Amino acid sequence: MLDRQRMDPALYRDAMSRFAGHVQLVTTALGVERRGVTITAACSVSDSPATVLICLNNSNAKNEIFFKSGIFAMNTLGADHQALADAFSGKTPPLTVDERFAAGRFETLVTGAPVLADALAAFDCRVLEIKQASTHNIIFGEVMAIRYSEPKPALLYMNRGYHTL
Ligand SMILES: Cc1cc2nc3c(=O)[nH]c(=O)nc-3n(C[C@H](O)[C@H](O)[C@H](O)COP(=O)(O)O)c2cc1C
Repeated sequence: MLDRQRMDPALYRDAMSRFAGHVQLVTTALGVERRGVTITAACSVSDSPATVLICLNNSNAKNEIFFKSGIFAMNTLGADHQALADAFSGKTPPLTVDERFAAGRFETLVTGAPVLADALAAFDCRVLEIKQASTHNIIFGEVMAIRYSEPKPALLYMNRGYHTL
C-alpha cells in the first residue's frame, strides 16, 4: 500500500514564494453587501466560452458571499494599485468594507459585480461551478463582459513582496 506522505506546508509556501504571481482584486456583491479580496490564485481556463477560475480560502467566513452571490469580477491590478492590493488583503490598519472600496473607482458592467474602472483588465463573470479543494474553493466563472486599459506596468507578487513588470 502506498504510504501517503504529506508535504510540509511551510516548505511548500517557501517554494511557492519563488513563483511570480499576477495580482488580482476579485470582487462580488449580493444585495447591498460587497466584498473584495486580493488574490494571486487565479488563471484563464478557456477562451471559448471565455472562462476564468479563482481560488478563495473557505475558512474565512467573510468569503461566503462569493459562494452565494453567483457573480464576481476579476480585476487585474497594475503597478499603481499596490495601495488597493493592501487595502483588500486585510493589511493593517484594518479598514471597513466601504473604506476599502473608497480606495478605488468601481463601476458595474453586466453582472453587477464591482469592476475597477482603471484595472489593467477586468473580467465580469457569472459563476459556473464551485469546487471545494481542501482549504480553498475553486470558483469557475464565465466571462460576461470585459474591459481593459492601455498597456501599463503590472503588479506582481514574488519573494513575499510586490514587484512591477
Ligand atoms: C499577494 C497576496 C495574494 C493572496 N492570494 C490569495 C488567494 O489566492 N486566495 C485567497 O483566498 N486569499 C489570498 N490572499 C489573502 C487575502 O487577500 C486575505 O486573506 C483577505 O483579503 C483577508 O481579508 P479580510 O481581512 O477581509 O478577511 C492573498 C493575499 C496577498 C497579500
